[in-house]
Amino acid sequence: MTIECPSALPRRSLLKIGRTSVAAAAVLPFVSPARAVAGPTVITNLRPIPAQAAILGADKAKTAVLAYNGTVSGPVVTMHQGVPFRSRVVNGIDQNTTVHWHGIRLPNAMDGVPYLTQPPIRPGAAFQYAFTPPDAGTFWYHPHDHTAHQMGRGMAGALIVKEPEPPAFDQDLLWVLQDWAFEPNDQFVPGFDTPMEAAMSGRIGSVVTINGSVPEPIKVRAGERLRVRLVNACLARFVALRFPGHRVTIIALDGQPCHPFAPPAGSVIIAPAQRVDLQLDTIGEPGLDYPVVDDFYGRRATYRLVTLAYTRQPPKLRSLPALPIILPPNPVPKPDLSNPVRHHLTIVGGMMSMGMTADGKPAPVWGIKDGRRTNDGMAPIFSIPFGRTALLTLENHTSFWHPMHLHGYSYQVLSRNGVREPYPHLRDTVIVRPKDIVDIAFVANNPGNWMFHCHVIEHQENGLMTVINVA
Ligand code: C2O
Ligand code: CU
Ligand code: CU
Repeated sequence: MTIECPSALPRRSLLKIGRTSVAAAAVLPFVSPARAVAGPTVITNLRPIPAQAAILGADKAKTAVLAYNGTVSGPVVTMHQGVPFRSRVVNGIDQNTTVHWHGIRLPNAMDGVPYLTQPPIRPGAAFQYAFTPPDAGTFWYHPHDHTAHQMGRGMAGALIVKEPEPPAFDQDLLWVLQDWAFEPNDQFVPGFDTPMEAAMSGRIGSVVTINGSVPEPIKVRAGERLRVRLVNACLARFVALRFPGHRVTIIALDGQPCHPFAPPAGSVIIAPAQRVDLQLDTIGEPGLDYPVVDDFYGRRATYRLVTLAYTRQPPKLRSLPALPIILPPNPVPKPDLSNPVRHHLTIVGGMMSMGMTADGKPAPVWGIKDGRRTNDGMAPIFSIPFGRTALLTLENHTSFWHPMHLHGYSYQVLSRNGVREPYPHLRDTVIVRPKDIVDIAFVANNPGNWMFHCHVIEHQENGLMTVINVA
C-alpha cells in the first residue's frame, strides 16, 4: 500500500486502483450490474488543518478548531451510487490521523482504521482512498485516530451518495448536528476524553450546531415535501427531535431506505453516529414560525434546536399526497436465518468498574465479552466464515446507553428484548439501552477485520471496541 501519492496520479496507479475495484467487485456482489453506472471517478480531496471557525455566530469570537479543508463541519462529500470515488487525504495537523467513511460498505483496506486497515497518516503525509459506494444514502466521515481530540474539535463531515434517479422532493436539506463545550472566551473546554467523561456518558456540550454554526431560522415554503438528512456527528450527545405542526415520516435509517413510518410518539431519536432521513411535509401556515425541539435529556434540558420560518408565499401544493415518497432499495443481501453463525456479546464496565491508570488515577474500564472471552485491543474477538449469515445478540450489562457500530456492513435489526422489530430495517449503528438485548444479523460478504464499537467516542477509546474478522 502506498502512503505517499503524488497529487496527479500516474497511469500505473490508476490502473492499479482499477484492478483493485474489479477484484473487489468479483468477491463482493455489492452493486448489481444493472445498477452500476459507468461514470468518471468523482474526486474530493481532504486536508485536515488547524483553523478558526465562527461556530457561535458572527458577533462572537472565532473558535480554534481542527477542520477538513478549514471548514466546520467538513465539506459535504458527494458521491454517486456505483460510481468510483477517490480522495487524497493530506494530513495538515500535528497528530496522526485517518479518514473513516462511516457506513459505506467498502473494501477493508479503505476503511481508515489505523494499525488495522492502514498505517496512520503521519503529519505532513498523505493517503489515497479509492472505492465505489454500493449504496445511495446519507453517511458521514470522520477520523479514526485520536478521535475524541480531532472529531471533538471539528473534524467531521457529511457524505451523501446520490441515487441514480433523484427522488422527487421539493428540497433536499442536510443538518449535521454537533455539540460543543465552550469556555467563557468562546474556545473549547480543553482536555478531551477525561477519565470522568469517559466513565460516564462522554462529553456532552452545551451548544448544539447545525452544519457548523448556531442555527439561524430556516426558511421554508408551505405545501412542500422536504427531505431532511439528519447526521448526529456529536461525540456523545443523543437527540430526540420533535417537529410540532408538521407531518414527519422516517424514510431511511443510517443511510438505508426503510419501510416509511411515523416517528414513535413524534420523537426522532438519533444516537451519536446515526443518521435519519425524514420526509418533512410543510403543512404549517405561511408567515408563521415553528420550533424544532430536542427533549432527549428530559424537560429541564429541553431546548429549541432551530426554527422553521415559513415564508408568506402561498402553499406550493394545497394538499400534499398522503403516501410518502419511497426511496429505491440498496443492494444489501438478506440474511439467511435458517443456519446462522451465532455470537452473544455482552457490554460491560462503566462507572462501577473504574480501573487504575499507570500513575494510579482511577480510569474507566469498558469492555465487550463473547461468552467468557473479553475483547483485547485489535485482536479479532471471533471470525465469521465468508458468505455465512452472522446473528449477533448484543446485551448491555451497564447502566449507560451505547450506540454500537459495525464497520463495513449494514446489518438488519431483528428484535429488541424478544420483541420483533415491526419492520425489518438496516442499521450500521444500533442503540443498546441498559438491560437491552438486541439481535442483529448480516451476510458476512465483506472480508477483512472490521471494528465493532460504541460510538460514544470516550467509551470506544476506553475499551468499548473490538474487531470482528470475516474470512
Ligand atoms: Cu464512525 Cu469506527 O466509526
Ligand atoms: Cu464506521
Ligand atoms: Cu458506549
